[in-house]
Formats: sequence, C-alpha cells, structure tokens
Amino acid sequence: MKKVVCDNYEAACIFAADMFSKQLERKPKSVFGFATGGTPLGIYKELTKRAVAGSMDFSQSCAFNLDEYYPISRTHPQSFYHYMNKNLFSKVKFHSTDIPSGEATDIDTECKRYDAAIKASGGIDLQLLGIGTNGHIGFNEPSASYSLHTNFMRLTADTINANSRFFSSEETQPTEAISMGIGTIFAARSIILLATGAGKAQIVRKLFDAKLHTDVPACFLLLHPDVTLILDKEAAGA
Ligand code: PGA
Repeated sequence: MKKVVCDNYEAACIFAADMFSKQLERKPKSVFGFATGGTPLGIYKELTKRAVAGSMDFSQSCAFNLDEYYPISRTHPQSFYHYMNKNLFSKVKFHSTDIPSGEATDIDTECKRYDAAIKASGGIDLQLLGIGTNGHIGFNEPSASYSLHTNFMRLTADTINANSRFFSSEETQPTEAISMGIGTIFAARSIILLATGAGKAQIVRKLFDAKLHTDVPACFLLLHPDVTLILDKEAAGA
C-alpha cells in the first residue's frame, strides 16, 4: 500500500482527481468504481469542474458504485442513487452508470446481475474507497468471515450511528444494504483509499501496525498489489 499524505482535504481530493485524470488519459474506456459518503464529495466536485472545463472526458467510461442501502427508493434523498446523480452523474456524461438497486425484489438476482455487469464491462480499472471508523470498506462490516461477491449486508451499530448524520429524525434510516464483496473490490486493478479528518486517524493507524487485523476489512487491502492510500494530515496523525 502506497501512502500519500496531503496538507489538507482539498489537496487530498486534487491528488485523487489527478489519478482519475491519468487513468482516463491512459484508457478513455476506463471502468471506474465510485464510493459515497462525506469523504468523496471533494473529488466529485473536482472531477465535475474538470469535465465541465473539458479537461476530462468520461463519455466513453463506465461507472459502478460500491453499494446501496436496502431497501430504499431511488428517489429517496439519502439513496446512493440520488447521491451519485446529484454529485456527479447529472453533471458529467458517462457511457454508462450502474448502482446496486435498493428497489430490487430479489436480492440474490440483483447481486448476481451486478457482479456479472462488472465482469462484462471488463472489470474495474480504478476503484475509489472510503473507510469507516470501524474499518469497513463498502458495507463490508467487521466480521468473522466476508462475502467475496456482491451481497446483502447488515450494517453494524457503528455504521448506523456514523451515517445517522445524513438522516433527519423523521426519516427511517436503513440498517441493511447491498454491497460489493471484498472479492469484488479486490478484483479492481487499482484502488484509491481516501481517508481524511482526525476521526479516521485511529483506524488508519491500524493499517500500519504490521498486522492483518481480520476484524478490520480494510486490512485486506494490504494484500492488494496497487492501492494508494491518500490522507490529509489529520487522518495521518501528522
Ligand atoms: P464517510 O464514510 O466518507 O462519510 O466518512 C466512509 C465510509 O463509511 O466508507
């Protein structure tokens, strides 16, 4: 795992956006994996700015997202479908976009469809990941065993608590989701793991104590050949 420490959140997002630019230059038909949550917002802002200015062209590239709450309507303001449209897909033209469906009637069929769609696209070239304070990636929560493929996931109390900031008190917060599995994520050729803010310093430290903590899903990334961990000074504990 390559570690890059940037001065602040904005610089971290620009570093990540530069990696997207380079990938697109190398391969205009790239397949990208995107993440949701608070952390990637600055990257989407930067990618939108560059695409609108004409310095990046995603029109030949495909996009897949890590996960989606389940069940949730696409029109729900907290669905990841809504988030991606609001923050990227309504402003930047992609050849195709795909997100696990929170409206699927048959979860198993939807999970299989999703993995097959990623495979049919040629596989993900560059996957963006955030990290939960409990070490989750996507919605792969700390557990005794992990799903290799896209699957139905139950969120832990930590994650429900961390994400409650996005839901108003009148809204029912989902406690389950469909997420790429560890194997789906691992199949990406290159991965960016972005962690910013002091709240992530503790879990980031765990990635660097020379142990494979099996209760920290992000630790599996230590075994992947091409992961860039981008941090700001706070998350790096610097
Ligand atoms: P955050 O979430 O970016 O909102 O901190 C990260 C994650 O849960 O993966």
